[in-house]
Amino acid sequence: MDLFKKCYDFTRADEIKAMGVYPYFRAVEENEGPVVSIEGRKVIMAGSNNYLGLTSHPKVKEAAINAIKKYGTGCSGSRYLTGTIDLHIELENRLAKFLGKEAVLLFSTGYQTAQGIIPTLVHRGEYLISDKDNHACIVAGNLIARGASVELLRYKHNNMDDLERVLSKIEKDVPKLIVSDGVFSTGGEIVELPRLVQLAKANNAKLLIDDAHSVGVIGKGGRGTASEFNLVDEVDLTMGTFSKTFASLGGFVAGEAKVIDYIKHSAAALIFSASPTPASVASALAALDVLEAEPERVDKLIANAQFIRTGLLAEGFNVIDGRTGIVPVIVGSDELAFQMWRMLYDEGVFVNAFIAPGVPQGRQMMRTSYMATHEEHHLQQIIDTFKKVGKQVGLI
Ligand SMILES: Cc1ncc(COP(=O)(O)O)c(C=O)c1O
Repeated sequence: MDLFKKCYDFTRADEIKAMGVYPYFRAVEENEGPVVSIEGRKVIMAGSNNYLGLTSHPKVKEAAINAIKKYGTGCSGSRYLTGTIDLHIELENRLAKFLGKEAVLLFSTGYQTAQGIIPTLVHRGEYLISDKDNHACIVAGNLIARGASVELLRYKHNNMDDLERVLSKIEKDVPKLIVSDGVFSTGGEIVELPRLVQLAKANNAKLLIDDAHSVGVIGKGGRGTASEFNLVDEVDLTMGTFSKTFASLGGFVAGEAKVIDYIKHSAAALIFSASPTPASVASALAALDVLEAEPERVDKLIANAQFIRTGLLAEGFNVIDGRTGIVPVIVGSDELAFQMWRMLYDEGVFVNAFIAPGVPQGRQMMRTSYMATHEEHHLQQIIDTFKKVGKQVGLI
């Protein structure tokens, strides 16, 4: 049997393309933030994680250009060896202060960050306890750990009773790490942190929260999930990304200095991979400057998402309620997801079509997300377009 047979037999993407409704890998030709050009046409972007709209901010762009002029285009090595520049250290220090933690360590992506932390901290015979809906990078980190004989247990999504049940089966003094998204990337719900912290404390577990969709979105001045609940000291480790609010590329973990130092000297995902580029670090630093100077952007983002939530609910859409930058609209089947995606796109609105098995059967959705820089006319156009298309497909 040919190893590649599965590739030659894979026809699903071609079938969707032949139907003219393939939503993925569409090339953006120009990007102003709320409006982008695709296939020579301007469309309103309602699917990006550019939460504060900073990818086109003049100061953020200028910082990237200046960093290239000073340091060149790449670092050509791992942080461990020749790949550290002073900007990496500056961003680590600035972010630690912003998040109220002793230390921060940068990684080259958020995805790598989870793979860097989880198998590094949890060893053979120790327990890893994970929400069933955690992001794919946590799942990948968990699988690496399980390959090294870590005990992996999962609990029902954001269900603290189920977590309590899982914890009750494990001896109290066995070391454990509980991992959860702070804001879940698909549904946009916020983790039940107060109860999670209480259960972690009662069961001698450390806590890792993935704040990819939380920093710049919730908490005081956008300081994330722990800040949202006044539990900064109770969350042991917070990880995140620079690919959303921070308008760049890269990941980070924040926590106690001794723990961060251990990860720094042990994580394969850090040691054996090149460091974030000068332009990436400089733009994340500039984005942090803007976030600190203009916290009202966070309020604007939340108000924009709420405008859409209220508008779509009023039109009769099945919207997952929430208070983050993510507004998912349930459509209920792959077919409808593809069809509706295409119709919205043709009408000038770009959203994300989430299909099974990425989401459970029946939960297929138009996953929409917002920016502080969307203006009311953009938001109204999104609602009007949803209404028109929703009626045409019989969803409302
Ligand atoms: C919850 C969550 N964690 C981590 C990541 C990965 O971040 P990055 O894009 O930096 O790899 C994402 C990105 O989609 C995410 O949604």
